[in-house]
Amino acid sequence: MNKTYITNSEAQTKEIAASISNEIKNGGVVCLFGDLGTGKTIFTKGLAESLGIENISIKSPTYTYIRHHKKNGKNIYHIDLYRLEQIDELLALELNEIMQNKNNIIVVEWADKMKNILPKKRIDVEISYTDENSRKIKITEHK
Ligand SMILES: Nc1ncnc2c1ncn2[C@@H]1O[C@H](COP(=O)(O)OP(=O)(O)OP(=O)(O)O)[C@@H](O)[C@H]1O
Ligand SMILES: [Mg+2]
Repeated sequence: MNKTYITNSEAQTKEIAASISNEIKNGGVVCLFGDLGTGKTIFTKGLAESLGIENISIKSPTYTYIRHHKKNGKNIYHIDLYRLEQIDELLALELNEIMQNKNNIIVVEWADKMKNILPKKRIDVEISYTDENSRKIKITEHK
């Protein structure tokens, strides 16, 4: 599943996110790459909603890097590494532990900051700005 999309609205971005929910509904790692304000959190929200989580905090986590949501027995982790230069050893350990459980659904904003510990099997989502309301979204599945 390697695709490139153009989206012209938040709603469209959420639909694109929902289109990968089948691939990760039983577990998986989704890595979001893209500059400030390109729509990583909107994408995360669309993905979470399609998995049945309505109230995922749309704002980026301020005090923690990891937000955990549990719904219908599914564990979803929303990780946002924006404020970090690089992850430290302790956070790396914590992230590795979360990623070891293959049933966990993990969505990472600013995933480039943990590139050294990203699993081989993951879905990369690269979002880039094309215009005020449009974005290019490139989805690459690594097996
Ligand atoms: N096609 C689009 N898809 C997604 N968001 C869009 C689109 N067009 C405009 N926007 C706007 O872009 C912004 C995206 O914000 P969002 O918080 O999702 O970005 P982000 O990549 O998570 O930023 P940050 O790096 O600060 O975490 C929102 O204000 C949204 O309304
Ligand atoms: Mg964000």
